[in-house]
Amino acid sequence: MSEQAIGVFDSGLGGLTAVKELIKVLPQENIIYFGDTARVPYGNRSEVTINRYARQDANFLLSKGVKLIIAACGTVSSVAAGLPEYLPVPFTGVVAPTAAAAVSSTRNGKIGIIGTSATVNSGSYKKEILRRNDRITVYQQDCPLFVSLVENGFISENDEIVKLVVERYLSEMKHNNIDTLILGCTHFPIIAKAISNFLGNHVRLIDSGRETALFAANILGSSGLLNTSNHIGQCSYFVSDTVESFRKTAEIFLGKSVEDEVAHINIEQVAVQ
Ligand code: DGL
Repeated sequence: MSEQAIGVFDSGLGGLTAVKELIKVLPQENIIYFGDTARVPYGNRSEVTINRYARQDANFLLSKGVKLIIAACGTVSSVAAGLPEYLPVPFTGVVAPTAAAAVSSTRNGKIGIIGTSATVNSGSYKKEILRRNDRITVYQQDCPLFVSLVENGFISENDEIVKLVVERYLSEMKHNNIDTLILGCTHFPIIAKAISNFLGNHVRLIDSGRETALFAANILGSSGLLNTSNHIGQCSYFVSDTVESFRKTAEIFLGKSVEDEVAHINIEQVAVQ
């Protein structure tokens, strides 16, 4: 069992921010990633659609025999609340571990949350924060264009378009004097530098991919599922759109190239139930 892979999915490339951290924290683990690149973005779709997509994504990973599923997607973690009960293997989304890290980080009790529209409208991070400490003040902002910027490779901190969109979305957050900002969508760490340049160094950015990777390591440890072999784990990547475009951008996310490890699948053919 312990040599089975960890399954990770996202609507597109964003979940690779979690994969990058998983490789650091658990180098011996095998990882199977699914990015639903043909149906991205999820963040402005209905609850019914997001739930259907999430089940298909999880079922695909189950068909590969994974031992743990990570929804490395703020939108799925916020909206597909029924997913964990439906799965026969342990599961984590990104909301709880990220909210916990933000609560420990804040000094002035002012936390900002940015995510997709579906995530922000669900109030998921806000609820998790207030459940832990109800004296914290929370400011939320949906930033759907950040997903498009990242998926299309507009990620440089010096890019004028990136700077403009960051300023447009985050001016109010800056004015509210937050000291901690949750990057509640796994695409956002890719433009963290531009966000940090705008808000200033005193604002701590909480990366949902990173916090979730650390949390997943704890789940595996406490369930006796850690891979104890001393070999370096293998990663395979599956996408629902073209392999070529994924290869190009994945390299930026992961900091290394992926070639033969990427394959295409038809996600619409995977069962929803
Ligand atoms: N990376 C995703 C998230 O965390 C999805 C972005 C999207 O598909 O809209 O929300």
